[in-house]
Amino acid sequence: MPFSIINGDITKTVCDAIVNAANPSLLGGGGVDGAIHAAAGHDLVRECMTLGGCEPGDAKLTSGYGLPCRYVIHTVGPIWEGGNCGEPEILASCYRKSLSLAAERGCASVAFPLISAGAYGYPRREAFGIALREIKAFLNEEETGEMTVYLVIYGDRRDLIGKDLSAGIGERLEERENMGAKAAAEPMPVYGFDGMAAEAARPERAKRKSLRRIFRKEECCQEAAEFRTADATAGSASLTGSGISEALKMIDESFSQMLLRKIDEKGMTDAECYKKANIDRKLFSKIRSDMHYRPSKSTVLAFAIALELPLAETKEMLMKAGFALSPSSVSDIIVEYFIRTGNYDIYEINGALFEYDQTLLG
Ligand code: APR
Repeated sequence: MPFSIINGDITKTVCDAIVNAANPSLLGGGGVDGAIHAAAGHDLVRECMTLGGCEPGDAKLTSGYGLPCRYVIHTVGPIWEGGNCGEPEILASCYRKSLSLAAERGCASVAFPLISAGAYGYPRREAFGIALREIKAFLNEEETGEMTVYLVIYGDRRDLIGKDLSAGIGERLEERENMGAKAAAEPMPVYGFDGMAAEAARPERAKRKSLRRIFRKEECCQEAAEFRTADATAGSASLTGSGISEALKMIDESFSQMLLRKIDEKGMTDAECYKKANIDRKLFSKIRSDMHYRPSKSTVLAFAIALELPLAETKEMLMKAGFALSPSSVSDIIVEYFIRTGNYDIYEINGALFEYDQTLLG
């Protein structure tokens, strides 16, 4: 996964380079700056003394010394002064300059703290949004090679995503919880069988149409699942001529064949799709070369997001790989919320999944 958000201490993150949220003197301080200097040892400050300081928005590189990384990239974020003194641009530049320095040194992996979100007072949600935006822009660039970028969140993982987004997701989760409690309190709705009995006299097509309507509401009841499978095959059986061969092709199509077909139908290149899905090239090549590749659920969802599939097609792709969205899974409810609201930004989705301590997509 090219981009990950992890909860931990950056001085313990094993990667090629870690980024330090420093001050212009580069001679150490508190927060993550203090932690990095303490873990690296005195050689770090000795090398920093030779660099002649660092301007806000710029980045300079030293060795990692006692840290589990080859390099430390020191960058100086903006001090928050209300947001109208160029703070967003300076903060964005910290990520861009650090990433290009890491790329210049051939780093395969780099870890960032949430720059300026501590002593420099940058509002967390905005700092997080700029971090995601700049890292996504860098990783989606054509010429960016295979680099893994980690955003290391220290301590509390809350208050990272936008307030509106957080409220919308919270509401959705509450709704689902109440529905779950209500369903648990009432006996399983029997209208499945009643509905089928009542429809028995109707002509075949009309019966199937209204049963679809009945069962669409009930995503979780067993009869609905059985009906839908029967309906899908019955539906294909009732097709005439080329329709049957089309339908049978779809049924025989493997997940990877479906994926490649959809990439072509969307007019995307493979690279555009797997970058948008936060999937690395190696994993994509495996899926492309193995017709029977069995992806994880988060990989299927990542591609559904990259292809911007509507919910029905997302469910179809999940089913193809043997998965389904569960009304009781926090992660599925969050992903479904983004799809329903038409937000296919996998970095934002992963930000929300991280905040709710769920597995990220990719
Ligand atoms: N690992 C990862 N992140 C950390 C760690 C750690 N060990 N320690 C702190 N952080 C997080 C903070 O929780 C915050 O989210 O790093 C983010 C940045 O906080 P600061 O370290 O305070 O950096 P910043 O806000 O950019 O202020 C920089 O503070 O330490 C001084 O010398 C530094 O003057 C400079 C100023």
